[in-house]
Amino acid sequence: MSEKVTVILTSYNKPQSVGKSIESVLDQSFEDWELFIMDDGSNADTQNVIASYLEDSRIHYHNSGISDSDRFKTTRYATLINEAIEKSSGMYVTYLTDDSFYFPDRLSEMVTYLKEHPKAEVVYSNQEVRVMNQHYKTNSQFIRKTRGVIRDPQNTVDHCSVMHTRSLAEKVKKEYGSYWDDHPQYWHNGDAAFWARLAAFVDFYPLPQTLDATVKTPGSFQRLNQYLPHHLPTGTLIKGLRDDIYMVDHEKRRQIEREAFEALKYRMEDVVEVPDPTLYKYLEGIPVTRQSLGEAALFPTNRFVTTKKRSTIYYIEGNQKRQVVNRKVWKKFRIQEKEILLVSERVLNEFQTGEPIFPIISAKNLVPNGFVFKYETNLYISDNHQLLLIPPRVAQKLKLSKRVPIELARSEFASIPKGQPLEWKLSMLMP
Ligand code: TYD
Ligand code: MG
Repeated sequence: MSEKVTVILTSYNKPQSVGKSIESVLDQSFEDWELFIMDDGSNADTQNVIASYLEDSRIHYHNSGISDSDRFKTTRYATLINEAIEKSSGMYVTYLTDDSFYFPDRLSEMVTYLKEHPKAEVVYSNQEVRVMNQHYKTNSQFIRKTRGVIRDPQNTVDHCSVMHTRSLAEKVKKEYGSYWDDHPQYWHNGDAAFWARLAAFVDFYPLPQTLDATVKTPGSFQRLNQYLPHHLPTGTLIKGLRDDIYMVDHEKRRQIEREAFEALKYRMEDVVEVPDPTLYKYLEGIPVTRQSLGEAALFPTNRFVTTKKRSTIYYIEGNQKRQVVNRKVWKKFRIQEKEILLVSERVLNEFQTGEPIFPIISAKNLVPNGFVFKYETNLYISDNHQLLLIPPRVAQKLKLSKRVPIELARSEFASIPKGQPLEWKLSMLMP
């Protein structure tokens, strides 16, 4: 029987690096392989790079054609890998991502070991890890080392450092109903979830060589997902891999047109980068354009406004205007002249009148949304008129840690209802 290796490369929008990944397979000293390039509906740049490699008859190309709005529904790379395993026929199966590449003896070393040690059904190796900054320059570099024969490979062995037999994959499928678990809770570490399934049957055997390199880019899912809480408060500015900026508004995303961004006095430093599957999980709401300034129904929420005639300012929340009652409110809520928008008398009149905002918060009064508060040593954000606790790292991720928080007195803190904390949790990885 042939010792063919099935290599499964998952790809999404990495035109700078996917070519190198493919070339590293073409350059293998071991030649009996088939490469499944599973592209998840990438942009044209990426598709063009991939198209230039499709002549080799060992390469099979599949494009999922997934629509962006469906992207969050499963851990996409796990879904693609499951499809590829079904189509493939190698005696061994191994994985590659579009920001990683193999060294030339990767396949040969692993196949030789598996052949010579019939007891071993999974091997793994050292990996070179390069961490890149926003300018795609290497910031740091280290070797992720093997840890001997192990049964707990989760979160210590990378996606691109493993080869296993097909027969083991079939045992997994028989036991669990699928090869990789593509439940979306495993987006952050789907490889770990699959390793746990493999390790339910067998040990992982180490190889002493460094056989692949992976590059951690700023746009990688793990980097963008880290410390991003499940719920994003209304008013959060977000962007995915593309440059378009959106404002989260009650679980919808409203695109903010470039000119509107400036006219509405938003700031680039407040924009939170999120993975595309997260961005597209939000249904698209009405965009925010320059015209939005002239129509209450289109106006973005959580903005201060005034008119030419008046000296009073208002806080716009949904379709309501909440009057700022006096200068003490300015001080308390750190309102700055430069963030107040000028609207026409007509537009202001279109808003319903909401509760005024007072300098002291009490149970009689709704806390205004979108402000960062501090009580004792903890940070909170007001969303839906509730206080949500924000752990420090989440505050950093959401760009809230740079804002000067509003100190709350004990009675004020007690008077505001509390909502679900904005925590970031990794899924537990038990098979
Ligand atoms: P990547 O962004 O490199 O994340 P990580 O931080 O885990 O390295 O993505 C991992 C793999 O998932 C990569 O091969 C591309 C693939 N992928 C898809 O197939 N579809 C998608 O929508 C995304 C975001 C990634
Ligand atoms: Mg990656």
